[in-house]
Amino acid sequence: MASLTVRKLDEALKASLRLRAARAGRSVEDEVRMILREATEGPEAVSASPARNAIPQPHRSRAPEVKGLPRVTLIIGGGIAAYKALDLIRRLKERGIHVRCVMTRAAQQFVTPLTAGALADERCYTDLFDAQSEFDAGHIRLARDTDLIIVAPATADLMAKMAQGQADDLATAILLATNRPVLVAPAMNPLMWANPATKRNVAQLARDGVSFIGPNSGEMAEANEAGVGRMSEPTEIAIAAEAMLRPPHTGPLAGRRILITAGPTHEPIDPVRYIANRSSGKQGYAIAASAADAGADVTLISGPVDLDDPAGVRVIRVESARDMLAQVEAALPVDIAIFAAAVADWRVANAGEQKIKKTSSGMPPLQLVENPDILATISKRQQNRPQLVIGFAAETQNLIQNATSKLKRKGCDWIVANDVSPASGVMGGDRNTVHILTRGKAEAAVDVAVDSWPVMTKEEVADALIAKIAETMGQPTP
Ligand SMILES: Cc1cc2nc3c(=O)[nH]c(=O)nc-3n(C[C@H](O)[C@H](O)[C@H](O)COP(=O)(O)O)c2cc1C
Repeated sequence: MASLTVRKLDEALKASLRLRAARAGRSVEDEVRMILREATEGPEAVSASPARNAIPQPHRSRAPEVKGLPRVTLIIGGGIAAYKALDLIRRLKERGIHVRCVMTRAAQQFVTPLTAGALADERCYTDLFDAQSEFDAGHIRLARDTDLIIVAPATADLMAKMAQGQADDLATAILLATNRPVLVAPAMNPLMWANPATKRNVAQLARDGVSFIGPNSGEMAEANEAGVGRMSEPTEIAIAAEAMLRPPHTGPLAGRRILITAGPTHEPIDPVRYIANRSSGKQGYAIAASAADAGADVTLISGPVDLDDPAGVRVIRVESARDMLAQVEAALPVDIAIFAAAVADWRVANAGEQKIKKTSSGMPPLQLVENPDILATISKRQQNRPQLVIGFAAETQNLIQNATSKLKRKGCDWIVANDVSPASGVMGGDRNTVHILTRGKAEAAVDVAVDSWPVMTKEEVADALIAKIAETMGQPTP
């Protein structure tokens, strides 16, 4: 029987499926089941099946009945993307989620509490010292009386306050007082996003357990500005929120923590130039999505790529190999680590503080030094070594031979070897041919076993790899 997952459908089809499912008040998977059932058993078979969780009709009263609906508190920060938060309210509501809005003072320069309140069908909260809601410590109620807090747009300033634990307005007081999961959708100018202060704050928040979606790369509202910093689209944020609101993970990797690295690293030559490689990150992102589908708690540490965050995955974005190692170490302990990133072997020792100028005296000498070896460092750890460490070997020649020596040298448990020579089209492409090298069993005469898989899409490779991991790991001990 053909095997197809919703994730593999094209975006337009997925969007109309989601809409159809939302209208019927079903999950996308249930909607697909309905369509298949209708096709095989006729329309009568499905007309008798009621929707499990019908979307509420537009409210007629001003006091919505929210009992039973998942609840989101949406904190709107003071950035230009605040207008997108209004669309986010609608995207959440069409998924059957009750939304309550909070706006910072700066947010009110961009959109009005009246609009947010009208869309949410409940007044928008703005003031910490509001006599109407604070007679019973309303900020504590707002912090707890929710299943998830979304911060969108999360400005650089708001994230700095969160990272510092400030609580001098309603939004930050709620964020400090909550014990609910928090999903942050940053939005800012690319230079603000790349600023070391912002990077520190993002890393701190990720360590504090905050989940991130985006930012994406693209055009900015400011003329002639583009780069990483655009807020994720409202639909992407709504899908991520939906994944976080799902009941506790089920699936073969439920209860397992997985760390995955993906993409290239950028090694600076000076503030505007860098050394990179052609990795697209697609394989690592597909593995992260598949692991999340299998119920794992997934942290994806990604180099600079042009891909959207997979739903239900905690994504930490880094630039250089050294940043990546620091974030990998901060994410431990985990049960499984999969190192799919194409980490630069070398960096420039004498990277310029300022842009290196072209001079008549010839080309600047670039001295290279070795980068830390993330796979070997984690594989050889005495403390907190993941139970299963998987490396990737991207080779352009002598694939199995080089991958075998890498498996032995690095001390990892498995190697996923793939041919990345230009003729293979793997780098940046959608398909992959991989060989899984595992340490042979002592009783067998071989010390390394090679399992060669046929050419597959990167999603299929991801699903097969996750299935093999689940089979190897078995059930977690409670
Ligand atoms: C027109 C305009 C657009 C702005 N856009 C952003 C933005 O997209 N992201 C950001 O971090 N700050 C942006 N700022 C700066 C924030 O508004 C400022 O840092 C503010 O204090 C953030 O408040 P908050 O902490 O309530 O979000 C913008 C400022 C102006 C005047």
